[in-house]
Amino acid sequence: MLLRKSYFCRSNSKNVIRVLDKSFEVFITKEEIQQEIGRLAEKINADYSNSDLVFLSVLNGAFMFTADLLKSISLDCEVSFVKMSSYSGVDSRGQVDELIGLGNNLAGKDIIIVEDIVDTGITIDKIKSLLEPEGVASVKVCTLLYKPDAFKGNEKPDYVGFSIPNAFVVGYGLDYNQKGRNHDTIYQIREQKKHRTSMLNIVLFGPPGAGKGTQSERLIEQYGLIHLSTGDIFRANIKGETELGVLAKTYIDKGQLVPDELTINMLKAEVSKQSDPKGFIFDGFPRTIAQAEALDALLASIETSITAMISLDVDEAELKDRLANRAKTSGRPDDANPDVIQNRIDVYKNETAPVKRFYEQQDKWVMINGIGTIDEITERLFATVDSL
Ligand code: IMP
Repeated sequence: MLLRKSYFCRSNSKNVIRVLDKSFEVFITKEEIQQEIGRLAEKINADYSNSDLVFLSVLNGAFMFTADLLKSISLDCEVSFVKMSSYSGVDSRGQVDELIGLGNNLAGKDIIIVEDIVDTGITIDKIKSLLEPEGVASVKVCTLLYKPDAFKGNEKPDYVGFSIPNAFVVGYGLDYNQKGRNHDTIYQIREQKKHRTSMLNIVLFGPPGAGKGTQSERLIEQYGLIHLSTGDIFRANIKGETELGVLAKTYIDKGQLVPDELTINMLKAEVSKQSDPKGFIFDGFPRTIAQAEALDALLASIETSITAMISLDVDEAELKDRLANRAKTSGRPDDANPDVIQNRIDVYKNETAPVKRFYEQQDKWVMINGIGTIDEITERLFATVDSL
């Protein structure tokens, strides 16, 4: 058994994955899994050399582990797949447990229950009690993962691949709401590394098409922040044909910046709507020094400040490609027109570069490579924010 506390990332592997709304980081690599399975198989081969052995694999989670384990088992054995099912009985016993798929005659046979993970141990105890009437010769448990801190069962598992902390894991058969079983690696849920006592206020910066919207969503989910995208607020106003929207549209359609006063007043209204926020992400704002100064004043008025300005660095050719692709689905007229795109990129370069210097002078500017998969960029962002 290996004790696994954490994994230190290797730069070229896919270190962070998304499963539904959560981020997970590499915990046990495929090579480590396979090596440990080889060791487990060797022990079982030695322990059961003269035995009538049946592996009972518990679906769904153990399918991948069972397949790999059995490839290294050299014994003359059987394998069956079972599934635990609980239903509400009609009599006074209440919940009734059933083991589906227990077809073969198991009398007199040695059983190894194969599990992907033993957590509380409740499932294993139930399976063992359901096997009692079968008259089996012996029952042992082989599990790839074991969480000793969560375990409340009667007997500890007999063969354990990795003993792990009590944190949620996915991959290699294990799921999060039925997703994530297909990975060959085991990932652990990514927790926020640091407990913050002050607000986390981030200015996310980057040219149009740099991925600010996508990455903002992930930062919001990970750090519980409130997203303030001036572009989104303008678009909502344009759609609703508000006074502000009609005015803002005349600038946006030409690829120009909306005047500072208009933008700042609108933002003030949004900030003051929040009670006790953990922090804000400012996306697409500030774009001028006047706006950056106004934002500092606005945050000072609620006794906080900008923690960092994070720039996503993406070259111009890649930006144009991304925007042309986005235009196919976004329906945004400013994405579809190459002249407007060029103008937006130029405006970004010429008029917003001083904002970078503004935060640089305060030692709050951080640049992140914005090229790569969405997950890779998220990983860089989280690592940066965790270090702030
Ligand atoms: P038990 O608590 O030992 O009975 O485990 C019950 C089941 O919970 C396991 O068979 C898994 O399906 C699931 N489970 C427990 N911990 C995790 C985890 O970290 N990731 C995914 N599934 C888990």
